[in-house]
Amino acid sequence: MSKFKVAVLISGRGSNLQAMIDKFESDETVELSCVLSNKKDAYGLKRASEANIDNFFVDHTNFPSREDFDKELIGTLEKYKPDLVVLAGFMRILSPLFVNKYSGKLINIHPSLLPKYKGTDTHKRVLDNNEEYHGVTVHYVDNTLDGGPICAQSRLKVETKDIDELQKAIHELEHKLYPWVINQIANKKIYLSDGEIIKQA
Ligand code: GRF
Repeated sequence: MSKFKVAVLISGRGSNLQAMIDKFESDETVELSCVLSNKKDAYGLKRASEANIDNFFVDHTNFPSREDFDKELIGTLEKYKPDLVVLAGFMRILSPLFVNKYSGKLINIHPSLLPKYKGTDTHKRVLDNNEEYHGVTVHYVDNTLDGGPICAQSRLKVETKDIDELQKAIHELEHKLYPWVINQIANKKIYLSDGEIIKQA
């Protein structure tokens, strides 16, 4: 039986990508098929090469519009026919053209307990507001900012005022949660039905 094919979009260091590589390297169900970056020097591209995963740099500055860039991404992705497209630190807003094309097959990880703290600077805002808890969310992507149906969350008690320490703890949660969610989706234990999340034990 053919494997569940995952494409990963990155822009930077790719620590979440690495967590996926470590989890799925010799997995029987899930295969990381390709990695795309809009940044040439993204360290994640190196990680992909080292893991023998096809990887591409697609320079968004070469395209006159967001849609043109997204069409190029789709053209590359479709060679792999991904079952799931995973955003892992991809720092470009995707147009409705792209989001609708992969509707129900596109997920993102966000460093907050959504719906709280959409957008950027989540760790700073959590500390400024003296929140008791902080965490991470994996969600399906729709055409709203950080607003699609939530697959799963992990949380921690905020026990530091140091932003770097908090960020490190959040990354550790991400590296466990994201591969876990991908595995659940691949095994049809998390899926969307009429826009609602269904989870099976
Ligand atoms: C993560 O913190 C994730 O929550 C956010 O972008 C960051 C990516 O980090 N969406 P990395 O490139 O996976 O190390």
